[in-house]
Amino acid sequence: MARVITYGTFDLFHEGHRRLLERAKALGDYLIVGVTTDNYDASRGKLNVAQTLMERIENVRASGLADLIITEEYEGQKVNDIQQYEVDIFAIGSDWLGKFDYLKDYCEVVYLERTKGVSSTQLRNESGGVLRVGVVGAGRIAARFVAEARYVSGVNVEAVYSRTFAKAQEFAAKLELQWANDTLDSLLKHVDAVYIATPHGTHYEYARQAIAAGTHVLCEKPMTLSAAQTAELYALAESKSVVLLEAVKTAFSPGFQRMIAVARSGLIGRIRSVDATFTKLVDGGREYDATDGGSISELATYPLLAAVKLLGCEYSELRTVSFKPAESPVEVFSRVDLIYPHAVASARTGIGVKAEGELVVAGTKGYIYVPAPWWLTEYFEMRFEDQRGNKKYFYKFEGDGLRYELAEFAAMIRSGQQVSFKFRPEESVAIATIIEAARADATIIS
Ligand code: CTP
Repeated sequence: MARVITYGTFDLFHEGHRRLLERAKALGDYLIVGVTTDNYDASRGKLNVAQTLMERIENVRASGLADLIITEEYEGQKVNDIQQYEVDIFAIGSDWLGKFDYLKDYCEVVYLERTKGVSSTQLRNESGGVLRVGVVGAGRIAARFVAEARYVSGVNVEAVYSRTFAKAQEFAAKLELQWANDTLDSLLKHVDAVYIATPHGTHYEYARQAIAAGTHVLCEKPMTLSAAQTAELYALAESKSVVLLEAVKTAFSPGFQRMIAVARSGLIGRIRSVDATFTKLVDGGREYDATDGGSISELATYPLLAAVKLLGCEYSELRTVSFKPAESPVEVFSRVDLIYPHAVASARTGIGVKAEGELVVAGTKGYIYVPAPWWLTEYFEMRFEDQRGNKKYFYKFEGDGLRYELAEFAAMIRSGQQVSFKFRPEESVAIATIIEAARADATIIS
């Protein structure tokens, strides 16, 4: 009896899938189908899968072609499955031609002609319609965003607005966008959603206008430097039934989310302390702007994200010390301490002081250590007094990570969900509250 195995995501099961399974089955007598888990898809950068693992398994089951369905959870699993299930033939679509030749050491490898004109990606785009996105601002981060957006299906960045029209035109030409705009209004006419990537001080006004016009907004961090303004924007978004999301990439990355889940699972006991550091040396420019610059406004969002995700928004006291050299228009290093009823958090930021960018979450039974750069979480470790209990966790943080926030934003819009548990409006407002107070009330040393 010849056993055949094949793998896929099988999202929005289509004719291409059915024909692939039929031909795979015909190669032998018994067909095993591996369906990728959500986690595995996320870890290999396949974002925006529309159906859950259960639904995708059901798709395969309902085809009546699989004799056994298994899940594919990790890289390298195929080698193990082939041996465990004593597989004779591995079959896969021709889009993978050559990629699985290494399995020839274990079984026969067959590439089946892919069915033309249909794919899950295409169906996802058709079902929800392509989300047309415009970029506000034409700087470096905006360019990175356009590049990252290519990894998120169902999203098309089509337009740009910049205060200086020539810059918008240059940006559109370079990144092959359809429309360059010289007013925000004209940009809003072309798109369903905007990504705001202008200097901090301008976010509020752009976001307010876009939301008022019924446009979904993904806004670079910090959304504003005022708790009242941030709260007002969320309230406006709610009343207009549009999605407003603060673009804190870490919050949506697989490694960070898992770290939060592990930390809050009780495995390290009760969390008593969170220490997070983010420093990035900068010599001058926007970061040194006397009104909006400084290490807190530039960088504190990340360490404060860790604090509120791990300890919540209800701190009882805030103490800040900022180092501001006499010749500097802004503070260049700060320590923001949050005191909670049963825990403390310390967020350290620096644009003129360099430190190790690590995160330590201390609990009553053990701690979690995330090495620098912890905000691009690829790895963390759970550590105990008795080191035999230590555990290491590995993840992938793809590209610049902007794809994660965009994928979440697009998924929220598609499902009509205004709140993401990965980063809630109240958490975003809490961070804005802390940033505003820390900047206003810091004890200054020089
Ligand atoms: N497949 C096929 N013909 C198609 C689409 C998919 O033969 N038109 C095959 C793939 O080559 C693979 C299997 O179906 O062997 C499962 O593919 P999957 O990645 O789930 O489907 P896609 O439609 O390619 O998904 P996506 O667009 O998300 O990449």
